[in-house]
Amino acid sequence: WGLLPLALLLSSLLFAACGGNPSILNPAGPVAQDEANLFWFILGVATFVFVVVEGLLIWSIIRFRERPGMPTPRQIHGNTTLEIVWTVAPSIFLFVVLVFTIRTMFQVDTIPTGGQQLEVTAVGHQWWWEFDYPTQKIITADDLVVPTGTVVHVKLYSNNVIHSFWVPNLTGKTDVVPGHDNEKWFSVDKPGTYHGQCAEYCGLQHANMAFNVIALPPDQFATWVSGQQQAAANNPQYARGLALFKSKGCTACHGIVGVNLNDFNTQPQTLVGPNLTHFGSRDLIAGGVLKNTPENLAKWLHDPQAVKPGNDMPNLGLSQSEINDLVAYLESLK
Ligand code: CUA
Repeated sequence: WGLLPLALLLSSLLFAACGGNPSILNPAGPVAQDEANLFWFILGVATFVFVVVEGLLIWSIIRFRERPGMPTPRQIHGNTTLEIVWTVAPSIFLFVVLVFTIRTMFQVDTIPTGGQQLEVTAVGHQWWWEFDYPTQKIITADDLVVPTGTVVHVKLYSNNVIHSFWVPNLTGKTDVVPGHDNEKWFSVDKPGTYHGQCAEYCGLQHANMAFNVIALPPDQFATWVSGQQQAAANNPQYARGLALFKSKGCTACHGIVGVNLNDFNTQPQTLVGPNLTHFGSRDLIAGGVLKNTPENLAKWLHDPQAVKPGNDMPNLGLSQSEINDLVAYLESLK
């Protein structure tokens, strides 16, 4: 009994400690709402059973405790009625939980047809998320921008190891398995930023494989799409940064439309790093571990292995002025 309030207190502290409350109990869309409803239903059933069983136990301990002068209790052996009751009653409880669980599983699994739809492919890399919009012909990373009130149909793809796509406020986990393309859907009710996280151990930086779902009202999303579809402005002011981008070998791994790519469609598989075309417009960098600020980007370029050991970005041995030029150029890509 003493443990129950303690557990509740600890869990509320845990949930309260998270910025933006990325909790499954704080749903922001229909899929997460169904999942939260299932959680509360099962918790309700479990709490009822717990209270009844523990209540009977405690009542029995007090009522039948040994007192001075008490006669020896009546000795019994077996009680068929009681045994049937305590076998059948849990079976009924479990059956009800089973029905509710299966109903929820089908609800969250069935991708609705009709209404507003958006198709996205989420690609799991070690250790960052790439997001492809096949219809809009956009490739981005770390930020999954979606419109509100829309069925977001996510295809999950990996060609390295198993990852798992999880946005606690929006949808439960689904594994991203090489050679087995899973899919799922979610929808967002309100504009906002929702934390996403890889939820399957995938190597050294698994914990630092995060992303943001950024939900915009549909008109703002349309503006974002048309902005992303164009090459970023090529400002002569940042020519030194652009020249370094080419001469330091960045183009071996990273694509920028208008620099080493004609458009998003022709990005070759050899470009293993994030597409940087609209880098400056992103909220997160470095596989979701850093906010996109000039200071953080400079820190990253100075020594990527110190920020995120084991990642594929090499230390290029850049001087401070080279870093400044590259930061100014990359942050200008909007
Ligand atoms: Cu990717 Cu864990």
